[in-house]
Amino acid sequence: MSANVDEQRARYEAAGQGHVFRFWEQLSQGQRDTLLSQLKDIDPEEVGRSYRAMQRGQGESEAPEDVKPVPEDAFGSMLRSPASLLSQWEKQGLEQIAEGRMAVLLLAGGQGTRLGMSCPKGMVSVGLPSGKSLFQLQAERIRALQRLAGTAKPVPWYIVTSAHTHVPTEAFFREHAWFGLDPDSVRFFQQGQLPALTVSGKIILQDKGLIAMAPNGNGGVYRALSSSGALADMQARGVRHVHTYCVDNVLVRVGDPAFLGFCIHKNADCGAEVVEKVDPTEPVGVVCRVGDHYRVLEYSEISSELASRRDTHGRLEFSAASICNHYFSVDFLQEVVRQYEPQMLYHVAHKKVGYVDDEGRPVAPDKPNGIKMEKFIFDVFPFSKNFAVFEVLREDAFSPLKNADKPGQVDCPSTARKAVYILHAHWVEKAGGHVSSGSGGVVCEISPLVSYAGEALQERVKGKTFPSPFVLD
Ligand code: UD1
Repeated sequence: MSANVDEQRARYEAAGQGHVFRFWEQLSQGQRDTLLSQLKDIDPEEVGRSYRAMQRGQGESEAPEDVKPVPEDAFGSMLRSPASLLSQWEKQGLEQIAEGRMAVLLLAGGQGTRLGMSCPKGMVSVGLPSGKSLFQLQAERIRALQRLAGTAKPVPWYIVTSAHTHVPTEAFFREHAWFGLDPDSVRFFQQGQLPALTVSGKIILQDKGLIAMAPNGNGGVYRALSSSGALADMQARGVRHVHTYCVDNVLVRVGDPAFLGFCIHKNADCGAEVVEKVDPTEPVGVVCRVGDHYRVLEYSEISSELASRRDTHGRLEFSAASICNHYFSVDFLQEVVRQYEPQMLYHVAHKKVGYVDDEGRPVAPDKPNGIKMEKFIFDVFPFSKNFAVFEVLREDAFSPLKNADKPGQVDCPSTARKAVYILHAHWVEKAGGHVSSGSGGVVCEISPLVSYAGEALQERVKGKTFPSPFVLD
């Protein structure tokens, strides 16, 4: 053990992080073991290198005049593309799904701090009449896709978790018998984590014998795809296309066949689904172009001048809001893990990080005192040789759960529920039925097992009026 300690102490001292041992003499054996096992998993040299590269990168963002909006004619669009093309793309997407060539990849490693819940976000229910969790809605959409594609082949579902979410997420799926999916087609793997740092780059001790750790951002998925064997598993299954999405969007069109077909039609290696951004302060990244490349300007990094700039029609110039639904070809993912991922810089997130003071007393800061380093999933877009942007209607495809409910709040459980009711009541109307309003307004929930996107409803609803709450399961 002591050789082990000496070796770690030498590594950390050489990297300028020797302070992680400052309370060593006061630790119990158990605490020492815990600290040592944390220290072994961290590469302090790499932490320092990443921190320094991040610092340099922050001063190197491109000049605003080089950043251009995505021209509208470069999009495929659920609003503007001809119906014949849209159905052709959808058909093409479904054919690939039927042949087992598409997998879905769920990003579920976030800590969900804004929502203020300690469980993984996917386990949360937004309070629909069915009480279904986000995970269940997504699982049922995957089952619906299989039905639409007319395939017995399961759509493989890869779920990236983090140290914070892995155990409860897996247990939740087990408890719910994988929501009716073949357990063999659901694969969990963990992304990495990094120590939280002070603004000057020192590792933060959250307790005398404990390093404060945080997931390394959703761009951590690339390393994890490789190290966990998930990418190799995709290849072994014959998967060629991956639809990646974010856990918290209650309307997410998991594996959206029209988007998939559009990307294949464009021969894209990488793509993004967007909705129109109308409020300059909305916390969404915007897809834009810098020179010949596409990238996302994240809401935490875009200047307010750029975010508020309007065109001659009064629309936001940078209006292609990323809904964190991305397409990747498996070949591109392979290139990413092989050569591009190491080139991706970390972004800095200023956070409140609990720490111990000089006497070893725990302190809970009331304002941000530390930084977490995160890679962003979309930072591979500039490496794409053929990028596709696909516009969808916000009402059809995007209502995220980011915040807890409070009066006037957006992106919270009540706005997510309302978005579902409005969309599903609209589907019923389109199929010739009607949902009448009750004391709580219109309440309408259609299970994904009945309809993925409004199809297959006529027989059940045409010519009928249903009182709220109306649930079709
Ligand atoms: C994200 C997007 C933003 C987009 C918005 C749409 C990124 C970096 N930002 O912002 O451009 O407009 O969604 O709702 O993608 N996650 C991990 N591991 C992590 C951190 C996050 O898997 O270490 C997952 C989360 O579980 C979630 C997704 O990544 O599924 C997005 O993370 P979140 O923190 O919710 O991103 P936003 O800031 O809302």
